[in-house]
Amino acid sequence: MRIGLAGTGRIGAFHASTLAALEDVEQIVLTDVLPEGAARLAEANGYELSPDLDDLLTRVDALVITTSTSGHAPALRAALTAKVPVFCEKPVASTLSETIELVRLVEEAEVPVQVGFQRRFDAGYRRAREAVVSGELGFLHTVRANTHDQSPPPAAYIPTSGGLFRDCSIHDFDVLRFVTGREVASVYAVGANKGASFFADAGDVDTAAAVLTLDDGTLVTVSATRYNGGGHDVRMEVMGSEGTIGVGYDDSLAVRSAEAGVDYPCGPRKWSFMERFLPAYRTELAAFCDVVAGRTDSPCTVADSLQAFRVAEACELSRATGRAVEMNEIGDAT
Ligand SMILES: NC(=O)c1ccc[n+]([C@@H]2O[C@H](COP(=O)([O-])OP(=O)(O)OC[C@H]3O[C@@H](n4cnc5c(N)ncnc54)[C@H](O)[C@@H]3O)[C@@H](O)[C@H]2O)c1
Repeated sequence: MRIGLAGTGRIGAFHASTLAALEDVEQIVLTDVLPEGAARLAEANGYELSPDLDDLLTRVDALVITTSTSGHAPALRAALTAKVPVFCEKPVASTLSETIELVRLVEEAEVPVQVGFQRRFDAGYRRAREAVVSGELGFLHTVRANTHDQSPPPAAYIPTSGGLFRDCSIHDFDVLRFVTGREVASVYAVGANKGASFFADAGDVDTAAAVLTLDDGTLVTVSATRYNGGGHDVRMEVMGSEGTIGVGYDDSLAVRSAEAGVDYPCGPRKWSFMERFLPAYRTELAAFCDVVAGRTDSPCTVADSLQAFRVAEACELSRATGRAVEMNEIGDAT
């Protein structure tokens, strides 16, 4: 199959090379509003180049959207009109109202769309989900989740990112639903600016924490930062009456023990989301090829993405107002 890819920045270039290695993929066709980077990437790897999205959509069997977040919704709408299946990076839109509209448009268009929450394809998160579903952990009472980037993205990324909860913690919110099978009922969130001033200039924070209550009463803490000198640190602990399981606990853990004589963890640390989730990104894009070929339904829908976005929206509202927010205050829950 021929795969179009719109947006050839950090994750776009990375997804292009992952896609090119998949058996189903014959050719990659690139486009970007800044054509120089796309042209360099195409030339270096033998990909085709297209001048714009309209042209690209006539030349491909499927579209991968890896533009800046503000470009996702327009590209997704164009692909739905052209009846081209889509893989769209998270979040599918910058605002709640656009996300709700896209859920409706996708349903009407009957075009398969998969959203890029790669943690659903990570072996550790999948094992945690199995442990919950099988009852092995007993009843859940507490979940701890964190996404700690080693260092910030470029300053220019922040103003169109949607902010720390919509850009970063949204992965924790999605995989929390995936692992526990529950919905969030309420949130209380705070944020801090401890690093570069470009976060505050964009109305954003570089560090945040949230307490979530799930609809079965399980308590969840979510932590995020753009500054984690110890390495890229993404983990989840799921605690139940019969056991506790931890995702992301191996020797690459970006934490060093303060205890004398303890040499765990002792392996090389991971420094970026690309290193941390390389196998998950591969599995995710292979699953997208299955979706495009009609072998399976989308494993992560725009409706799923809406639920994660609503939690991010609630956290932003809580941070802005300094109060707890009930999820029924936030837009459309369908
Ligand atoms: N799933 C993940 O783990 C993950 C990781 C990183 C980024 N992302 C998401 O991927 C998206 C891109 O992130 P990035 O870090 O690669 O950003 P980036 O700024 O490095 O790259 C974005 C690229 O999109 C291009 N672009 C912007 N608007 C466009 C448009 N309308 N049409 C075509 N090209 C356009 C830019 O010129 C740039 O080359 C973001 O939405 C981000 O949230 C997801």
